[in-house]
Amino acid sequence: MAADRAPGLMAIEYHRATRHDRSAGGTTSRRIDPTSRPRPFKRYPGAESIALPRDLPAGEEPAASVLSRGGHGSEPRLDLGGLARLLFFSAGVTRHVAGIAMRAAPSAGALYPIELYLACGEVEGLEPGIYHFDPLAFALHRLRAGDQRGHLAAATALELASTPASLLLTGIPWRTLWRYGARGYRHLFWDAGTILANLLALTDAVGLPAHVLTAFCDAALSRLLGLDQPGALEEYPLAVVALGRPRAHAAAPLGPMPPPGPSAEPPFGRPVAEPLVTATHRSGDLDRLDEVERWRGLARALPSFSATVHVSRPTTHLPLPLEEVILRRGSTRRFAPVEVPAQALTWVLAAATRPVPGDFVAPGRTLLEHHLTVHAVAGFAPGAYRWSSEGPVLLRPGDLRDDAARACLAQAAGGDSAYTVFHGRRLEALLEALGERGYRAAQLEAGIVAGRLVLAAHALGLGGTCLTFYDDEVERLFGTRAATMLATACGVPLRPPRPGRRPPPEGYGP
Ligand SMILES: Cc1cc2nc3c(=O)[nH]c(=O)nc-3n(C[C@H](O)[C@H](O)[C@H](O)COP(=O)(O)O)c2cc1C
Repeated sequence: MAADRAPGLMAIEYHRATRHDRSAGGTTSRRIDPTSRPRPFKRYPGAESIALPRDLPAGEEPAASVLSRGGHGSEPRLDLGGLARLLFFSAGVTRHVAGIAMRAAPSAGALYPIELYLACGEVEGLEPGIYHFDPLAFALHRLRAGDQRGHLAAATALELASTPASLLLTGIPWRTLWRYGARGYRHLFWDAGTILANLLALTDAVGLPAHVLTAFCDAALSRLLGLDQPGALEEYPLAVVALGRPRAHAAAPLGPMPPPGPSAEPPFGRPVAEPLVTATHRSGDLDRLDEVERWRGLARALPSFSATVHVSRPTTHLPLPLEEVILRRGSTRRFAPVEVPAQALTWVLAAATRPVPGDFVAPGRTLLEHHLTVHAVAGFAPGAYRWSSEGPVLLRPGDLRDDAARACLAQAAGGDSAYTVFHGRRLEALLEALGERGYRAAQLEAGIVAGRLVLAAHALGLGGTCLTFYDDEVERLFGTRAATMLATACGVPLRPPRPGRRPPPEGYGP
């Protein structure tokens, strides 16, 4: 952590500098050059490639039931098929639209800045090692052979040396800065969050324990994944997801760090760094395991909000398992301005605001607060509301469709939805306690909640979309001093999305 400035100051400065304030002339997005659109796939031409099984298992339990209950049950053994299911339904290619390979989880502007890696020691059918997930080939690239969990543990948390496998999410800022300028840094966490929303639901469905770690030694993880190779694009580790429980008797030893693995293909186009983003991110880095542990202790002790702990199942929902709901998900571009039943608000929000199993907040708690504009929900007067773990609390009645659309960057979907939720957090106290790294955690949790909202809406046969927003308009709308992290709209889609499909046996082509 940078010691020469007050904790959190850099993140506050970044957040201020990347606001979309309507009153100050609008957005900070760049004029884009479509011919230089970053390629959303990393390739390792020299790496051994391991094809993932394409015959993916699916559960029988309806998605709505899984999203209500969270995880429980006896831990299954993770094998290659189970791993392929996790990877495909959280970050796989499910559709092609206008030449763009669209993925299982939403991504702002379909830019897909997130890469996934695996560190494993005990996955049946897969040799221990470090792998990169290639969604297009639906394969793993082997980056390092042999059990490297000791190195992962030394950078993250000691239990990971005996946890069967961990997924590591990284973000490539250039992919979003290209379009959104410095504000694109926020998108890394949002997009990682929507992937995590799918992933956590998928692990819940089969009773596989999953724990999201946001505190780790950044440089050590970058080295382990080979992100620090000369000429590589800037790429930040964002989260580590431990899959399975640690087995105290089977900790991987900490051997010598093997030499660097194969290099990734050089980046396409002319990537440009954004000094504000690099400085903000670096100022939140942690260097040593004792710093990591201290940060986690502070995060657990931080005053936070109650998450929604008990969620009753909805009375009506699609009779489809999670995997099918994920395939049917597609961001709603326009909603029909029609009323939805009460549970489309109460259950969807409850399911989305369940606690995230992670190291950035105490169990059962959340960093976030949520405000919403209700437009057409049976039993709820239109108006501005605040969500509490008990349900929605009316702040001010009124027809707010126009205000909500305006707040969502003047996008109609924000106002023609049945309701639109704005996820926020007062940053000052958070960052004073947790420093710049607290900013990463709040943005990530917002992405997870938004991703869960969209999934839950689809599990009821409705639609939803994450939306970007004018910071000042949201604050004005709710009279809040919470900094807005993200917005999500839910309702009845005007047109249902084109359903996705499982990975084709013949592959996606080059
Ligand atoms: C963080 C985030 C912000 C988004 N913001 C908007 C938005 O402001 N307007 C919009 O129409 N779609 C928005 N989207 C939806 C994306 O455009 C959509 O996810 C992407 O095009 C991929 O399509 P799919 O979600 O249908 O798979 C957003 C998605 C995410 C994850």
